[in-house]
Amino acid sequence: MVEYLATRVIIFLTYVALTFGNRESTDQDAFQTILTKDGDRYKCVSINQQRSLRHPLLMNHKIQMKPRSYPIELYNRSLTAVNNSLAELPTISCPIGTIPIIQDIIGGSTNILFFHTTNAGERAEVAGAKTNDDVYGTSVSINVYEPKVKEKTKDISTSFTVLLNAQNKSHLEAIGAGSIVWPSFCGDTFARFHISWMGRTHSGRVECYDHECPGFVQVGKVGLGGRILPVSIYNGPQYQINVLLFKDPKSKDWWLTSGNTLIGYWPSQLFTNLKDKATSAFWGGQVAGPTVQENFPEMGSGHLASEGFGKAAIMGDIKIVDGNNKYAKPDIHKSFAASSKKKCYSVDSFGQDESGLHVYYGGPGGCSS
Ligand SMILES: *[C@@H]1O[C@H](CO)[C@@H](O)[C@H](O)[C@H]1NC(C)=O
Ligand SMILES: *[C@@H]1O[C@H](CO)[C@@H](O)[C@H](O)[C@H]1NC(C)=O
Ligand SMILES: *[C@@H]1O[C@H](CO)[C@@H](O)[C@H](O)[C@H]1NC(C)=O
Repeated sequence: MVEYLATRVIIFLTYVALTFGNRESTDQDAFQTILTKDGDRYKCVSINQQRSLRHPLLMNHKIQMKPRSYPIELYNRSLTAVNNSLAELPTISCPIGTIPIIQDIIGGSTNILFFHTTNAGERAEVAGAKTNDDVYGTSVSINVYEPKVKEKTKDISTSFTVLLNAQNKSHLEAIGAGSIVWPSFCGDTFARFHISWMGRTHSGRVECYDHECPGFVQVGKVGLGGRILPVSIYNGPQYQINVLLFKDPKSKDWWLTSGNTLIGYWPSQLFTNLKDKATSAFWGGQVAGPTVQENFPEMGSGHLASEGFGKAAIMGDIKIVDGNNKYAKPDIHKSFAASSKKKCYSVDSFGQDESGLHVYYGGPGGCSS
């Protein structure tokens, strides 16, 4: 109890010190530090001083506060078919004109988007649905769970959507967003909201996440790297986040929103081929990291896809955006569901019903390779 109180006092004093310290600091143009109830610390950074603008290709970039247009719905959806409740993305109440940047990241550097090998040739495993077609955006409802991942490793378990351009095999370009359990990020095993991209990175790195390296221009108050709450419970209440990625046809920037919430965009300058289109889209889970092959973590809900609604994780209401900036169903002849590690993870029920196109995916891991 005493220890607990002492910790609380220290946290509080640190908070006060940081909050007041930053008032005087013009270094990063941080106006305020906000401590969330989850114990995350965010700095509110002037939107015009954000790190992404230091990318050499974005020197004269003029920030866009919103997309010039949105993809067009072809029909009005009946919301009754959507059974899940919305989880909340981490929203940080930074002052107007500033955006939240998470602090105290322990370390990251696990590649999130690479489908079969990550850095040093580590093999990643995926299970989900994929469309190989020209794609100009995607919208999906991601059912959020907290799959178990070993602590003190750099392993991750993701529930992600990815748009990829593979026209140049030696220079893949991709963007993605979703939920990740990533113990080496903040030292815990919570589901957190992350983005990732591959393109013309400043540092020579192949892939970057969140604001790790300059590139993603944030305009909204969603705190990248923050917790998603609540999360689904096996055989209990189910929660989802909606993610929409789409290309602004005029500016060719790639936007990320969740429902009506604007998060930010990847400027077109970051990409060569992805500037025009993605050549595939993925919705599902991935496990990656240095020790996954020795002891596979859980994916999705930690249960096999065949268990179905409320028990297995689902990617729901999957849509793509076509070349006319309209929502469309993925062409079923160019789409499939698969698992790269059938002993550990499965996919099931990829198809259309009254709640839209969906796929169940995931599994307990634990199997030997
Ligand atoms: C969708 O709803 C809007 C507003 O309720 C209505 O104006 C529009 O005609 C509807 N569109 C279709 C395709 O039903
Ligand atoms: C919707 O949720 C209820 C429980 O809240 C469940 O009984 C029902 O099967 C679900 N419907 C669908 C279509 O999955
Ligand atoms: C493909 O990417 C590599 C590496 O970035 C580059 O050197 C090459 O010129 C690209 N090829 C084409 C056809 O654009």
